[in-house]
Amino acid sequence: MEILYTALATICVLLLGVLLDGRMKYWRYRLPPGPTGWPILGCLPSLTENLHLDMVKLGQEYGSVFSVYFGTRLSIVLNGIDAVREAYVNKGLVFAGRPDEPHIIELNPERSGMLYMTYSEAWRGEKKAIVRALKAFDYGSASLESKILLQIDMMKEEINLGLGKRQDICKLASFTMSNTMSSILFGTEYKYNDEEFNNFLKNSAIFVYHHARLMGDLNYLPFQRFLPKTIKRIAQCRKPYDKMMEFFLKHINHHKATKQDNICRDFTDVIIEEAIKQNSALPDWNDEKFCYTLDSLFVDAVDTSPVQFHWLLLYVHYFDNVADRIHNEIEEVIGERQPALKDKDRMPYTEAVIFETFRVSSVVPLATTHCAMEDTKLFGYDIPEGVDVFANLWNVHHDPDVWGDPDVFRPERFIKDGKCVRHEALIPFSMGRRACIGEQLAKKQIFLLLTSLLQQYKFHLDDKPTSLKGEFSIALVPPPFTLRVEQRLVE
Ligand code: HEM
Repeated sequence: MEILYTALATICVLLLGVLLDGRMKYWRYRLPPGPTGWPILGCLPSLTENLHLDMVKLGQEYGSVFSVYFGTRLSIVLNGIDAVREAYVNKGLVFAGRPDEPHIIELNPERSGMLYMTYSEAWRGEKKAIVRALKAFDYGSASLESKILLQIDMMKEEINLGLGKRQDICKLASFTMSNTMSSILFGTEYKYNDEEFNNFLKNSAIFVYHHARLMGDLNYLPFQRFLPKTIKRIAQCRKPYDKMMEFFLKHINHHKATKQDNICRDFTDVIIEEAIKQNSALPDWNDEKFCYTLDSLFVDAVDTSPVQFHWLLLYVHYFDNVADRIHNEIEEVIGERQPALKDKDRMPYTEAVIFETFRVSSVVPLATTHCAMEDTKLFGYDIPEGVDVFANLWNVHHDPDVWGDPDVFRPERFIKDGKCVRHEALIPFSMGRRACIGEQLAKKQIFLLLTSLLQQYKFHLDDKPTSLKGEFSIALVPPPFTLRVEQRLVE
């Protein structure tokens, strides 16, 4: 009898495992190869804190397209430029979806906001309206340049006040870049000691930290939702998120209360006008959706771009001569006047350093999750509709077959015949229909900020970090470092 009970219990546990595991769903598909992993846990037990590097290793074993179970969730990983291009460009329409991710739905149940929406009529309408609003409000024009430069002047004033003391240049740069976004979206520029904006930035950082971890808790082992640690994590995300939404709502309400017909002061005004038009690209638009749209735009602008700039500051000062060579170019091309975007074409080394930093740092190492909109095929394998698809941008940027010496920081690799030339496998903003819409803004800010700072100051990295390994979160964050600032003397 005892043997019978044990056998029954074992069968029950196995059945429960199969049910929870969810792999049965895919029995009829010829999935890309990949590790079998454990029931329910998949390959979670063998992952390290550097998911992108774990994926590189699996790619070496299983090829440039492989499948892997994170817990109970099937994911397809694109591990090289050919695979990413084939999926996101050649089959761009099919792979333009965003999957249902519990950690997103928990805070944004309708998945509003262009970053989170799957490919649909509504997404197309929102993207059209956003691009039009950004363009209408200076995004592509010369006055965006002056907006960026104005913020940089404010940053230099702040640095000058603290000369001789230790200063957190990364924090100042983050504030400056986020303030530019605020001035584009809301027409509001904040002072460095502004409590409201500093609180917003703090909440945004806390939210991003916890949200990245909630992804592991909720998406991959969904039954963890009932555990006290997950419940606590959800609360840790919700609190700062609600405060961020309050901040957006306050701006929307202020704009509505002060908006005059046919006058658009900023992005928010253009969207308000678009939303009340007949035949609007934004049908069924409401304040809540607007908050999620602002979140989509702000989340990258206050997280990704500044982190990218921190990496740039680190690389420029980590290696000998890089800062000096950039400064030589500044002296030759710009002299003492204010840097301008038109200088970029005549500063190949500076641009190459920026490209090389995009490559080595790969700040969004696994991009944002996509999914196929329908069952499809990729390189002969079946890709089921709706499963997570990751582009391992870090691997694309570190593929020895493409770059030769990928681990060496060598800006010269981008210079041909004295000009900086873009490489087809440099895709920090991803590719295809869901590629980043902030690419132009980010590149303009980064170039102007770097040249303006190095024109006026000499930075010293006194305590070099022992390694240049980043910390994996949504963005790959550089190791902590501080820079000592010295004003350059005008000769
Ligand atoms: C160096 C800075 C930046 C990097 C490296 C970066 C990178 C990326 C990447 C890899 C994606 C995912 C693309 C995909 O799903 O395939 C993305 C999406 C996105 N980015 Fe950025 N980004 C940066 C700055 C910005 C800025 C400043 C903005 C704000 C204007 C922005 C707005 C967005 C939006 C709205 C999406 C979602 C696009 C969609 O879902 O269709 N990004 N970004």
